[in-house]
Amino acid sequence: MDAIEIEGGLPLSGEVSVSGSKNAALPMIAASLLAPGRSVFQEVPDLADIRTLGRLLGHMGAKVGRGDGSEPISPSLPPPPRGEPIPVGQPASRTFHVDASNLEKAEAPYELVKTMRASVLVLGPLVARFGRARVSLPGGCAIGARPIDQHLKGLEALGAQITLEGGYVIATAKRLKGATILFDLPTVTGTENLMMAAALADGKTVLENCAREPEIIALGEQLRAMGANITGEGTPLITIEGVDELKPANATVIPDRIEAGTLLCAVAIAGGDVLVKRAPVQHLEAALAKLREAGTSFTSESGGLRVRAPARPDAVDVITAPYPGYPTDLQAQLMALLSVAKGASRVVETVFENRFMHVNELQRLGADISVDGHTAVVKGVPRLSGAQVMATDLRASASLVLAGLRAEGKTTVSRVYHLDRGYEGLEKKLTSLGARVRRVPGN
Ligand code: EPZ
Repeated sequence: MDAIEIEGGLPLSGEVSVSGSKNAALPMIAASLLAPGRSVFQEVPDLADIRTLGRLLGHMGAKVGRGDGSEPISPSLPPPPRGEPIPVGQPASRTFHVDASNLEKAEAPYELVKTMRASVLVLGPLVARFGRARVSLPGGCAIGARPIDQHLKGLEALGAQITLEGGYVIATAKRLKGATILFDLPTVTGTENLMMAAALADGKTVLENCAREPEIIALGEQLRAMGANITGEGTPLITIEGVDELKPANATVIPDRIEAGTLLCAVAIAGGDVLVKRAPVQHLEAALAKLREAGTSFTSESGGLRVRAPARPDAVDVITAPYPGYPTDLQAQLMALLSVAKGASRVVETVFENRFMHVNELQRLGADISVDGHTAVVKGVPRLSGAQVMATDLRASASLVLAGLRAEGKTTVSRVYHLDRGYEGLEKKLTSLGARVRRVPGN
């Protein structure tokens, strides 16, 4: 398992570019299952999760590959054992293509789903197009139980029969039928799954209490380009008039607002002056407001956002919430910053029940954080000192790398396969900004 070593104390400078959004690319690629034919996606980041979805589609019989088609992702390859590094040579081409003309299996096996719960996004498209699907239940993960009851309730409302057998969801339907579905709570992939399923259902579907993330807007645009009759994505009310068939559509993936927010937090914690290119400012309002409150300053420049940080941030209180609230996916990164702030901050995590796994590791670097249920109180300390720490989940691993940028001496973050799931060469991007960061290949 690879580790990342950081020599802290160096401010960042220069410019860095944001990659395509993992959480937009995943549902858009899953949507290609809805139609026979070849879809080509630009700006698809080279991430472990994208490769996993590529393997899953390949396992079902889709033709999947990168670049001009000369680098097919072998469908037969099982996912790498946990911890196998993504080759960090030349990143693969950012062009990703899928041809879902001849699918042989409408199933997502456990060994793939357990490494990436977003695999559940194939459920809606498979039932909609083929009338059946066998998808492994994702199981819990480090940050919480993360059930899919809302996905299944929605599919049942559309007329699917759902049974659970041996850890798998078996869904069947002659043809899905439009219905009105009220989500108990805003769920991002739940909304996405039902948008895709309803696109081919017979009649009108109304989805209420939908999640509003930018990635949902991107999926709505992709479905419309495929011929779907859908309105309201990005609002709590989405209406879909089902059609009989869809066609493939090419698309360019939007920039990743969470990677961008992570880079902004990196400058805030390390200090310095950086131009973050392709930062989707319009998708980062809550994060920008919070970082400004903490003393970071931003100026829009042609092609990007210039970030400048004070020597020491101010303490701020933050509550995570569904979009457009402060993103839960940037909670750990902000907590790293607040651990060296002037004063005490309250961090309330309302989306997931166990998303404070980074706290114990930040404490190993000298942070003073106490957790009581969903609330963490972060008492800012003047300095952190380097140590060995362990990544537990994707955004926690980013938080530890950021803390290492500030900590005096050397910080080693182990199990960085978590990082590789959602960041395309983060250590290379930070190094290009003057940080002293290197990947230590695992044994
Ligand atoms: C998406 O996960 C993102 N992943 C997550 O990003 C993100 O943290 C999350 O949305 C919240 O913004 C992708 O888009 C691939 P949810 P998702 O369904 O869809 C509960 C990252 O770091 N819930 O919006 O799985 C659930 O337990 C990842 O990139 C149910 O109870 O999240 C959670 O508490 C991590 N029943 C809350 O809703 C359901 O059927 C929000 O979950 C579905 C969800």
